[in-house]
Amino acid sequence: MKKAPPEKVSQETVTFNVAELEPLLSPPAMDIPPFVPAMVKVKNGETMLIRPLQKEEAPLFLDYIKKLMMIDHDFYDIVGARVYAEVLGWVRNRLKDPYQLVGLIDGHVVAFCNGRLMNENINISLHSLAFRRGLRAGAIMYYAKCEYAFETLKQKEFWATYESYNGLKRWGIGMAQPSYPWPDVQHELGGAKVFYVTKNYWDISIKRYLEEMIQTKLVRPVPAAVLEANAKLVMPTKLEED
Ligand SMILES: CC(C)(COP(=O)(O)OP(=O)(O)OC[C@H]1O[C@@H](n2cnc3c(N)ncnc32)[C@H](O)[C@@H]1OP(=O)(O)O)[C@@H](O)C(=O)NCCC(=O)NCCS
Repeated sequence: MKKAPPEKVSQETVTFNVAELEPLLSPPAMDIPPFVPAMVKVKNGETMLIRPLQKEEAPLFLDYIKKLMMIDHDFYDIVGARVYAEVLGWVRNRLKDPYQLVGLIDGHVVAFCNGRLMNENINISLHSLAFRRGLRAGAIMYYAKCEYAFETLKQKEFWATYESYNGLKRWGIGMAQPSYPWPDVQHELGGAKVFYVTKNYWDISIKRYLEEMIQTKLVRPVPAAVLEANAKLVMPTKLEED
């Protein structure tokens, strides 16, 4: 838009350094503690390490997600496309307070989950993905982000929604999650229904989900050898690899 100035000005043009514009586009991040690495036994007895994805690992991770977007079964394509945008949004500072965790077995990335903090009370669950099927690794990753929201970040609510039947089965139904009236309350993922967990529901029920539904638990502290074995990411070569 243009409008004549209401006063004589000594400079017709005012320029900005882009470093002065960036704070308008990426407000300061919240000061939040990171997810503390945890290890967990998956269905075949192997140990999966869950730890934050590092920014320098993002290019390798994104290369794989590009391929995942082409997989047109079980909703991998839409979840892949959204995860690609979210991880890039994190790298480019265009997402408010995101977090992303990877699940690794001997350095191989077998699962992923992410979310973000809407504010200090509400955690927005974004996505969970299993890159190796049949281990219930995806189910465990979702639990890990609930645990992060309630036990580490001390938040009051966790808001999710589901693109896939597997996701709805694992968590919407598996955790017997209530939902907010729709369309009055909408999830940021396409305006879908919000399924939620409150801190009280976490304490009296969902906290036991891993033991009851997946027959495993998160273990901390993680020995240095396990951290070391998973320090360098190896992305899958294809989905459903053996
Ligand atoms: C949803 C998701 C994260 C769940 O991951 P998960 O808990 O590791 O579970 P899987 O998808 O591997 O398996 C689901 C079930 O189907 C079976 N299954 C499906 N495909 C399988 C395969 N190729 N090999 C072995 N088992 C398979 C599993 O045995 C499992 O059965 P169970 O309930 O008895 O354990 C995963 O299905 C996924 O990444 N889906 C695509 C993206 C998606 O939907 N994300 C969530 C959006 S709401």
